[in-house]
Amino acid sequence: GGRTPLIAGNWKMNLDHLQAVAFVQKLHWTLKDAAHEDGSVEVAVFPPFTDIRTVQTLLDADKIPFALGAQDLSTKDAGAYTGEVSGAFLAKLSARYVIIGHSERREYHHEGDEIVAEKVQAALRHGLVPVICVGETAADLEEFGAAAVPVGQLEKALDGVPADADIVVAYEPVWAIGSGQAATPQQAQDVCAKLREVIGQKLGADAAERTRVLYGGSVKSGNIASFMREPDVDGALVGGASLLVDEFAAIIRYQK
Ligand code: G3H
Repeated sequence: GGRTPLIAGNWKMNLDHLQAVAFVQKLHWTLKDAAHEDGSVEVAVFPPFTDIRTVQTLLDADKIPFALGAQDLSTKDAGAYTGEVSGAFLAKLSARYVIIGHSERREYHHEGDEIVAEKVQAALRHGLVPVICVGETAADLEEFGAAAVPVGQLEKALDGVPADADIVVAYEPVWAIGSGQAATPQQAQDVCAKLREVIGQKLGADAAERTRVLYGGSVKSGNIASFMREPDVDGALVGGASLLVDEFAAIIRYQK
């Protein structure tokens, strides 16, 4: 209890910086007087790197109460790392969050638990809140059950994280991402509760109580309320449905 729900929109590689402006403005108008305006639900958008400067300017100019996040960052702070983006640059653009260890990074960019842990440290060095993504594939689910792989991933990601660190954890079963086949609320609750136990073991009871654990994987306006009713699900990491203004607005308004 007491955790502010977080509805996070991961745009993935969608919307260029001009489309991003139109999208954010439209979403803001659609949400007038919604719960996020009084702070009872936090909304965050995660555009591609090339949009972040533009979106930050718009949020600031129009006093739009969305938090800003990036989809990835470098393990390094600066230097001869062609193509990489430093957490320092993201922090300077008022990004608050950064997604780390998304299954698409793990799968297509061969990011293992060691890189994920390094990126968590990089985020914390720059005052960014890491949104640590964990989840099992369909094959993992069959072989080990739902919780074993995400629990192991989170244990490694939290190595060396201080007890007072501000972090977010996202449980995203890989088989549920972009498939239209969401986990059941009970499945999400079971794994999110186990992940909260891991936070407790690694960072202590205060961190376990305070840290938001999100569910992600085919979240839409029709199923968000059922996830949010679960005690250990504190929000959602939304992909496809975060690109549709009315859908995403309806997800943010899940309480109504
Ligand atoms: O980061 C978001 C997740 O990968 C979920 O994507 O909502 O399109 O299933 P999805």
